[in-house]
Amino acid sequence: MLLKQAKEDIEYILVNEQEIENRIKEIADELNAYYKDEEVIAVCILKGSVPFYWDLIKRLSFPVKFDFMCVSSYGASTVSTGEIKILKDLVVDIKGKNVLVVEDILDSGNTLYSLKKIFSERSPKDVKICTLLDKPDRRVKDIEADFLGFKIEDKFVVGYGLDYDEKYRQLPYIGVLKESVYTK
Ligand code: PRP
Repeated sequence: MLLKQAKEDIEYILVNEQEIENRIKEIADELNAYYKDEEVIAVCILKGSVPFYWDLIKRLSFPVKFDFMCVSSYGASTVSTGEIKILKDLVVDIKGKNVLVVEDILDSGNTLYSLKKIFSERSPKDVKICTLLDKPDRRVKDIEADFLGFKIEDKFVVGYGLDYDEKYRQLPYIGVLKESVYTK
């Protein structure tokens, strides 16, 4: 049984469960070819990346260490500076390690641009970004994903971890939210 409210609020399904699964298998193949037998610290950026993180990690053939980071942007009510605040930092020391940042979406790029900078200052061996979705039309920072699932249009998407007001994260697909829901 899926979230009942979705029937009313979702305009259409943009990427269905099967398409997500198929694409994740392809990304995993790319990552397996890239890292070979090297150990990697896979960083899940909370909270939206949780479903993608596990569905991806379980298909990786090289050794992976888990870690989690939670960030928020500064100045939500005023003009955003584009900087981020760390709400929960990593536990592991990434010095000299391969770091794979796993994100649900690359939008303005503020989050991943800042995270890449923060991680790079900790002297890792390598930092790569893997994101399921990319909305290139919204980009304000010069940042690209190294491994990407889908490039999408500038639509309000929810599901598979993505939320509106903390809702819809539990949907197994990525859907476009009806405009009437967020302009209420
Ligand atoms: C979302 C998403 C990315 C970020 C992308 O996180 O998970 O982290 O926004 O946007 P940007 O490229 O414009 O920075 P959000 O802050 O909504 O937190 P959540 O993952 O808990 O939903």
